[in-house]
Amino acid sequence: MISFRDWMAQNVKKYYRSDFRKDFFTAPELDRAFGYALAHHLAELVEGYERPALLELGGGSGALAYDVLSYLRKHRADLYSRLVYYILDFSPKLVELQRRRLGEFQGKVFWVESLVPVQGVVFSNEFFDCLPVHVLREGKELFLENGKQVWREFSTPRLGEVLRRMGYEGLSQTVELCLDCIDFLQRVAEHLLKGYHLVVDYGYKAQEIKRFPEGTVVGYRLHRLHTKVQEGMDLTAHVNFSLLEEYGRDFGLETLSLKSLRDFLLSAPPFVEELELLSRSETPEGVERLSRLKTMLVSMGDRFKVLLQRKLQDS
Ligand SMILES: C[S@@+](CC[C@H](N)C(=O)[O-])C[C@H]1O[C@@H](n2cnc3c(N)ncnc32)[C@H](O)[C@@H]1O
Repeated sequence: MISFRDWMAQNVKKYYRSDFRKDFFTAPELDRAFGYALAHHLAELVEGYERPALLELGGGSGALAYDVLSYLRKHRADLYSRLVYYILDFSPKLVELQRRRLGEFQGKVFWVESLVPVQGVVFSNEFFDCLPVHVLREGKELFLENGKQVWREFSTPRLGEVLRRMGYEGLSQTVELCLDCIDFLQRVAEHLLKGYHLVVDYGYKAQEIKRFPEGTVVGYRLHRLHTKVQEGMDLTAHVNFSLLEEYGRDFGLETLSLKSLRDFLLSAPPFVEELELLSRSETPEGVERLSRLKTMLVSMGDRFKVLLQRKLQDS
């Protein structure tokens, strides 16, 4: 017998350590304009720092790091010369891929196996959705026994406490709680000496949970989404942004903004410039890229959110 949370944790790890990049596309892989937009926002945040660090959680294929660094090297040369870029990723295969992709940034990018102290920004795209969730329903927790679902008492009293704090007690629906997200957030806050935490992911706010009566855990295989999850899939759960905000406060992280991906992209001049340029383009590549930017704005634009938190300084 294994809790769903432990089963998901094992499978996510196994998935990223064996396979990669065949079951889904992320925004940075759709188009470089995503990384340019993010680079613009990151630069605005750390412009005044003497020696800023950017720490990316879950670097995937290295596409995001490549676009962020390329943009900063070209458009913010002074900041680029002062910064250091870290990637934290638990997949040796993906780290290998990232190293190859980022060869030209040798001496600027470093890989870390655990969080390091940072003055700057810790950020991620589609990282928190990979962290495992506890699945609860009407006072019971989901376990698996020989592939069958079994509902039992909570594996830890923390679940009851978080359920109460989020106002989910008494809901007659599936509720997913990501204690791993809380623990990871705490570690981020502890390592953030000064600066910001920025999360891009798909997710919901506390009160929106009712839109997902059966929960949000899904698996991806070969670009198809499956609600009946199995081993060998890329397993994910929507991120509860209110949970990150609520517990962030305990760890000294103050929310500065929570906006849609669309607003985040459209408030970045480099993204808008690319959009304008591409809408005048008649080449097949230009037309294709324009449609990818529209995908980010339209089908991903509301589903994805961007949370920005600032570390409060000890007084
Ligand atoms: C969905 S991919 C996103 C990759 C990239 N950020 C992008 O947008 O293309 C998730 C990434 O996070 C890494 N990852 C997932 N869980 C992790 C964990 N607990 N610790 C470290 N890395 C993790 C995976 O290896 C993978 O690189």
